[in-house]
Amino acid sequence: MLIKSSRDGFIHPASSEITPRALYRERRDILKLMASGAAGTVLASWASREAFAQQAQRPGKGAALAGSKSGVPGAVTMEKVTEYKDATTYNNFYEFGTDKADPAKNAHTLKPTPWVVEVEGLVKKPTKFALEDLLKLGAQEERIYRLRCVEGWSMVIPWVGYSMSKLIEKVEPLGNAKFVEFISQADPKTMPFVGSSVLDWPYVEGLRMDEAMHPLALLSFGMYGEVLPNQNGAPVRLVVPWKYGFKSGKSLVRIRFTDREPKTAWNKAAANEYGFYSNVNPNVDHPRWSQATERRIGEDGLFAKKRKTLMFNGYEPQVGQLYAGMDLKKNF
Ligand code: MTE
Repeated sequence: MLIKSSRDGFIHPASSEITPRALYRERRDILKLMASGAAGTVLASWASREAFAQQAQRPGKGAALAGSKSGVPGAVTMEKVTEYKDATTYNNFYEFGTDKADPAKNAHTLKPTPWVVEVEGLVKKPTKFALEDLLKLGAQEERIYRLRCVEGWSMVIPWVGYSMSKLIEKVEPLGNAKFVEFISQADPKTMPFVGSSVLDWPYVEGLRMDEAMHPLALLSFGMYGEVLPNQNGAPVRLVVPWKYGFKSGKSLVRIRFTDREPKTAWNKAAANEYGFYSNVNPNVDHPRWSQATERRIGEDGLFAKKRKTLMFNGYEPQVGQLYAGMDLKKNF
């Protein structure tokens, strides 16, 4: 993101492999049928096929993690899901290197179990959650979200998790808690790039309390029906679909409730480029490039057209109200 090199950062590894996305295509077909009212007869076969898919056709090597279809408005886009291979080999996870291919190569050293997430700060019930307990705080749902990276590319990913609000309610924030800070693991023994000067480690992100409470803000444990691969932020990460991807911290170890706007890693590195809000906004350019369009990963053939970037990444009906009356150029 920040690195000012001659590379444009948009080099995308050629994907020749056809990945088992049949499950997702099929699901989309069924959702279309449901919309047309012809769904009843196919539901049973969907359920049994899903069970089969979880056992036999999972895309990677991770343990199955199923999520029921989410009822949260806006949580399931009907757009074509990005190939599993692309979503797991074209990553930003600077703890493992700054090249898009580095996390998939290097993140095998991350140890996602055992794992503890410490929730602290301005809450009535500060708690250290073992991963097993955290997994059970809410029902796992599948959310098919667009992810728009500040660098100008996007993907569509089927995440598994539950609304962050479930965890927030559990720890009972105090009245003066105005922000939530999300702190990622920073272990130089297992994360080779921690200690490099690109960022001030650990990776820290933050949300305003009402943003964190929004039902679309997802605490995610899985993707494509499996537990998160290491390079995507195992074992638990945030996904905030209406903000640039860097707001979605990976491999979280601490969640802190505060009365002050958190000092986030990218904001500390370049305050004029990465604001605290970082809502996807085609009308506010990054100082070094336009944000009006995006390249959808998987559609990057020679003649592929760029897509128009949508306000709040297309989630404006759901989240626009959070920013009513705010100057979004100032609060970028
Ligand atoms: N979290 C941590 N801890 N470290 C990172 O470097 N990169 C961010 C975000 N979360 C990052 C992080 C950026 S820039 C993006 S675009 C998304 O993760 C990418 O998520 P993905 O690799 O699962 O697509």
